[in-house]
Amino acid sequence: MNSESTDSFGEILSEPEAKFPGQVVTVDLGERSYPIYVGTGVLEQIGPYYVRHCGVRRTIVITDENVEPLYGQIVLKSLQDSELEAHLISVPAGEKSKRMGVAEMLYDRLFDLSVERSDAIIALGGGVIGDLAGFVAATFKRGLNYVQAPTSLLAMVDSSVGGKTGVNHRRGKNMIGAFHQPRMVFADVNTLKSLPDRELGCGLAETVKHGIIRDGQFFAKLERQNQMVLEQDRELMVELVERNCQIKAAVVQADERESGLRGILNCGHTIGHAIETVWAAHGGDIHHGEAVSLGLVAVGRLAVRRGLLRQDDLERICRLLSSFRLPIRITARSNKERVGQGPTLQELPGELSEMPVAELYEAMQQDKKVRGGKIKFVLPKGIGDCVFVDDLTESEIQPVIHSLVT
Ligand code: NAD
Ligand code: GLY
Repeated sequence: MNSESTDSFGEILSEPEAKFPGQVVTVDLGERSYPIYVGTGVLEQIGPYYVRHCGVRRTIVITDENVEPLYGQIVLKSLQDSELEAHLISVPAGEKSKRMGVAEMLYDRLFDLSVERSDAIIALGGGVIGDLAGFVAATFKRGLNYVQAPTSLLAMVDSSVGGKTGVNHRRGKNMIGAFHQPRMVFADVNTLKSLPDRELGCGLAETVKHGIIRDGQFFAKLERQNQMVLEQDRELMVELVERNCQIKAAVVQADERESGLRGILNCGHTIGHAIETVWAAHGGDIHHGEAVSLGLVAVGRLAVRRGLLRQDDLERICRLLSSFRLPIRITARSNKERVGQGPTLQELPGELSEMPVAELYEAMQQDKKVRGGKIKFVLPKGIGDCVFVDDLTESEIQPVIHSLVT
């Protein structure tokens, strides 16, 4: 779906970006190009940058109930100090808000505020808010401009860049959506200080994915500096977010609507999404990044079987994910006492002790990446490169899924 958009952000790239005290990555998409500002204290400065570039009358900040008390007022104040009319709407935190019912509630609020097409939305929060507010922006009155202000690591390194917006459907995750590029992204790494450790890990799963598929040196840097990453060394976090954004921007520039190359960003996601869907259907609590971590291990094993990845490189992937406190296996209840094998999903709230492989397989068939009944996997080719493979048989996939459960 192509969202119509207003042109009030026309001056967006005319300012010298060097003035920004941080890093600026540009997503080069012709008339839909936009800058990603990465730095510390970015949210306090959002007003002047935003106003200078956008010239809108009013802004609606959409956030969630966790992020609002932490950063809502900072953003509102910065906008109001720049003489912008700004309103804030908050929705319950978490994946459950990424659904049509919540989008409709937001449409109602936008009507109540008489929002016009020349107004704009700021998505302040994690990937849920980015996807939901982006989808509302894409669809309300056929498309408003919007800006991403990601506050989770996952949103900074992945979901705020590239214009995928949407909500979930009971038949599958992210099934209702639109491509709608933001007009700017403001990533303030200071906000990561309040992010729970588990959420930080989820962003690191996407970071590891970027290293695996596109940049072996970046992967090696993560291995060397994993402790500094966990301690959130500021400079390193700015560098980490910047590198992730460069990797994602390059892929999106080459293939904005995912007709080919962009599919590599789904590495680990076909199995990951299925795990997420099935786990949630059984009342379990699993986060996107955790499911992706398991998915990366699974595609790593498939790649070893196909002779694309060395066993020792698979072990490096598992070690790095583990060092970021991400799950690399699902431990059955009877194995709960096992120690020294890295985090397990058993440590997470949830009732599922074994993966129902048939259900997982069924969930994979629903994936958007399935073409003509064939599941398209992205397999690592060494560390730093990857390939599409669509001829994996059920008999190759099933043992790998079983191998996730120990
Ligand atoms: P999320 O938005 O639910 O955020 C995780 C939790 O952290 C929430 O409880 C949130 O309130 C809280 N939070 C966020 N920032 C915080 C901060 N600075 N301090 C304290 N708490 C904070 O989840 P997420 O992991 O950010 O994003 C996951 C979503 O992103 C999924 O729905 C996934 O499908 C989507 N996603 C989209 C894309 C895309 O390209 N559009 C890519 C990857 C993932
Ligand atoms: N996260 C996958 C993509 O943006 O294409």
